[in-house]
Amino acid sequence: MADPMLELRDVRLVYHRGRVDEVQALRGIDLVVDKGEFVTVVGSNGAGKSSMVQIISGAAKPTTGKVVLERRDVTGWPDYKRAGFVARVFDDPRVGSAPELSIEDNLALALARGKRRTLGFALRGHRRALLRERVARLGLGLEDRMHDRVGLLSAGQRQSLTMIMAGLVAPDVLLLDEHLAALDPATAQRVLGLTAELVAEMDCATVMVTHNMDHALRMGNRLLVMSRGRIIHDVSDDAKSALTVSAVVDLITGVGDVVSDRSLLTELENAE
Ligand SMILES: Nc1ncnc2c1ncn2[C@@H]1O[C@H](COP(=O)(O)OP(=O)(O)O)[C@@H](O)[C@H]1O
Ligand SMILES: [Mg+2]
Repeated sequence: MADPMLELRDVRLVYHRGRVDEVQALRGIDLVVDKGEFVTVVGSNGAGKSSMVQIISGAAKPTTGKVVLERRDVTGWPDYKRAGFVARVFDDPRVGSAPELSIEDNLALALARGKRRTLGFALRGHRRALLRERVARLGLGLEDRMHDRVGLLSAGQRQSLTMIMAGLVAPDVLLLDEHLAALDPATAQRVLGLTAELVAEMDCATVMVTHNMDHALRMGNRLLVMSRGRIIHDVSDDAKSALTVSAVVDLITGVGDVVSDRSLLTELENAE
């Protein structure tokens, strides 16, 4: 049975409302993502992908509409209050970990995510061993650098660490916003593999924004195409596996179509 983890109900987001530079970043987003679903999201710059991610994380509040996480209406909750069940990794490897703190201390903070009382920095022996084992899995040798400041790490090492941090306390929702964009191809490939592993372990709802069409097709089991603040295609697993990279580009630019959802596109066009 479907088990909705994340629901957006007619979410609209207007920046600078009433001003000459008003932007309608989201123009009525309806989305339900079930537990275990992994959604990839594509669309041109400015389509509203990051805005949607921010609405889910609580970094932005919808102008109208509702955000429901695991059947709780969290629309009015700020991001720190959602931190216990929403994990996120962004495009900038410098965001998401504290450069002045060591690898171990960053992990300890991630372990305390969303808990009212933090563990502080006093990690008991078995926890310390667990964290070290997690880091060792990256295969980067960072397990021998647990006391190094995170600011000393390369972009790829740091983003790998952020991925590990996101999965330490299994979230209900994992948000990835172009999290491979700043990495060189080989490192991106490695962090992509790590992403797949973590998602498989966590059984959460995953939303991954990417500009890489190949990743958008290979990862996950559902594809959303966004344009001008709307979801213009919602492609299920079967239809998705039949798509090619160039077909997805056509969907984004509006010249292509997925056979199964022509009615949705026609409806949107008529509504313009
Ligand atoms: N903080 C902001 N203030 C004003 N406009 C914004 C802000 N953030 C995003 N926008 C605008 O909202 C629209 C959607 O942006 P965004 O969600 O970042 O798109 P995407 O991630 O798909 O590139 C764009 O027109 C963008 O310029
Ligand atoms: Mg963006």
